[in-house]
Amino acid sequence: MTDVALEGVSYVYRQGSIRALEGIDLAIRSGERVAIIGQNGSGKTTLARHLNGLLRPTAGRVVVDGSDAAERTVAQLARSVGLVFQDPDRQIFSGSVRAEVAFGPRNVGARGSDLDERVATALQMVGLEAAAPVNPYDLGYSRRKLLVLASVLAMRTPVLVLDEPTTGQDARGVALVEAVVRSVVAEGRTVIAVSHDMRFVAETFERVVVMREGRVIIDGPPEDVFAEPQWPTLASSYLEPTYAATVGARLGLGSTPTDEAVVAALLATR
Ligand SMILES: Nc1ncnc2c1ncn2[C@@H]1O[C@H](COP(=O)(O)OP(=O)(O)OP(=O)(O)O)[C@@H](O)[C@H]1O
Ligand SMILES: [Mg+2]
Repeated sequence: MTDVALEGVSYVYRQGSIRALEGIDLAIRSGERVAIIGQNGSGKTTLARHLNGLLRPTAGRVVVDGSDAAERTVAQLARSVGLVFQDPDRQIFSGSVRAEVAFGPRNVGARGSDLDERVATALQMVGLEAAAPVNPYDLGYSRRKLLVLASVLAMRTPVLVLDEPTTGQDARGVALVEAVVRSVVAEGRTVIAVSHDMRFVAETFERVVVMREGRVIIDGPPEDVFAEPQWPTLASSYLEPTYAATVGARLGLGSTPTDEAVVAALLATR
């Protein structure tokens, strides 16, 4: 079981001396489903890249499995934390979809039928099994996003970090990503996703962390984070509550009403 935590983490990009993270304290328990939201440039990707050691804190520390991540290489951390990049084209480098998905597990020692099974399962989870022989760059952007998701799924890490997984996806793609999150969590693994898609966040995650200017400004369940008292704070970060939250508030159903509850409340007012 893998817990991850940031303890007083600050990060300064040398280029331009931008303080992208400012004293972040964030503990995530094993098996949690956490969404990170915030306006452009608020530090979400910078935070995500600390979780697998791609970035190392300027101050503070990252703790993975109870020990300081600074004591482990990126290759070692890759066995615990899988990161799916925001931009798939910064992650893809193989000549075929199958080779791309096989690379990570092969690197950690998977061979033969174990490797084949990992690749097949990961491709099937994202609906790309028929594309196995294809060159990744012959896929469209949305399918390249699903491919990098599959390549990290095949690593079967206890922690999965997804940076903007639904960007560019149509309804079917969003449903696939939601199903992946649910199945990974059902196995007791942790999912942390950065997202601008408030509906995906409200419907798929149990905890929402709101960032602004490198800090965490709200941290709670979606029912609280999208509730009316938070709307001014969300608006000040250019975030909007979901349509369900605004309708739910008007009908007195809270911020994450079910469709059935909304319909029943509307019928009762006729
Ligand atoms: N490689 C870099 N070099 C210098 N500054 C950077 C670099 N990457 C990000 N920054 C800066 O750090 C801050 C945080 O950026 P980050 O990419 O973490 O934000 P984000 O919340 O992921 O934004 P978005 O929603 O646009 O993806 C921004 O001010 C950004 O301009
Ligand atoms: Mg980002």
